[in-house]
Amino acid sequence: MQNFTYQNPVRIHFGKGEISKLQDEISSKQRVLLTYGGGSIKKNGVYKQVMDALAGREVYEFSGIEPNPHFETLMQAVKIAQEKKIDFLLAVGGGSVVDGTKFIAAAIDFNGDPWDILTKPAPLKSAVPLGCVLTLPATGSEMNGGAVITKASTKDKLFFIDPLVFPKFAILDPETTFSLSPRQTANGITDAFVHVLEQYLTYPAAASIQDRFSEGILLTLIEEGEKVLKHPNDYEVRANIMWAATMALNGLIGAGVPQDWTTHMLGHEITALFGLDHGQTLAIVIPAVMKFQAHKKREKILQYAERVLNIHEQNPEKAIAKAIAKTREFFTMLGVKTYLNEYGINADAIPKIIVQLEKHGMTALGEHGNIDLIASAEILRLALNA
Ligand code: NZQ
Ligand code: ZN
Repeated sequence: MQNFTYQNPVRIHFGKGEISKLQDEISSKQRVLLTYGGGSIKKNGVYKQVMDALAGREVYEFSGIEPNPHFETLMQAVKIAQEKKIDFLLAVGGGSVVDGTKFIAAAIDFNGDPWDILTKPAPLKSAVPLGCVLTLPATGSEMNGGAVITKASTKDKLFFIDPLVFPKFAILDPETTFSLSPRQTANGITDAFVHVLEQYLTYPAAASIQDRFSEGILLTLIEEGEKVLKHPNDYEVRANIMWAATMALNGLIGAGVPQDWTTHMLGHEITALFGLDHGQTLAIVIPAVMKFQAHKKREKILQYAERVLNIHEQNPEKAIAKAIAKTREFFTMLGVKTYLNEYGINADAIPKIIVQLEKHGMTALGEHGNIDLIASAEILRLALNA
């Protein structure tokens, strides 16, 4: 196991009715900016629960944070927060709202051009405190210090990570997820599943506990993922998916092990250029990464095949091929496509993606740093069509 330092400061309130805890989490003296997306929280009753819990507080609102949140939109919120002297941000929604709010928190007191928060990742000097009510299990943003922001004008989708933007608390009520569409439910499960794979499918690091945790999360996502599309209002199914997604990217399973974020970095460029949902891009790229890196990831893919996918095949090459095929089948079962051409994207797209990867410095990806631009182009070719 590699050395590591691990701290996660996010207080979790999990379960039915926990939104009422906002009363205790936010003091009556705080000037709150409530941030949300395109209005799902008004349709499913979450907005009302939040406002009831915040009764008596000074609350301003900023709505319209879009999926893959835009820098341009978020800067409008920064202006409002500065004018109203906001001292607490409450994000209510999916990963995009939580990420966007982390950026707002960082930008309010930022000295200089706030886009530098994404491009020149010097540690932040300060950030306005934030909390969140999560309504879409997927990103893990509710319990990590990362955020992904898109500059729409240049199609740059970049991330920043800073301990100052960990939420102070996160409220996870599985009932808020009953209203998710099958597409968003499936995207979320895919995202969480791939987060685990990117911290697990590398090379053995004698980290049994991280491996067993990872395998537990993967198995839960497979088992509950099969159930949720048939039983979208089953509380226990939704609860297990929600907690699995949080555990997939809160630093726990990634501590002390090598990691490979190739799939996410390629996926971000595909979303920025072609508008696919985040989860959709991952289901396309990860099977191709597994195929391209099969020799370097051999031992861990075989472990995944046996322990998670229940593949008992003596021939290692066949076992790896079956593991890739079964991973694809899982995404397909969820209703998520696994090839670029299924979205009408063809070989012409590859040079465009490569230009963006180079611009963003994504030239040595993977647990060995061996995924250069030529390797990325080959991975994208493997992802083109069946
Ligand atoms: O905007 P509203 O109306 O709220 O609708 C949203 C949105 O259209 C809807 N939705 C959310 N909760 C709902 C709901 N609809 C019905 N009922 C509910 N309970 O779902 C749509 C998608 O929401 P979004 O927040 O965009 O999805 P997700 O949570 O998948 O977030 C994706 C973003 O997170 C980034 C992605 O790149 C992408 O920008 N990521 C952030 C990470 C992090 N901070 O650690 C890591 C991830 O790998 C990821 O990159
Ligand atoms: Zn993700």
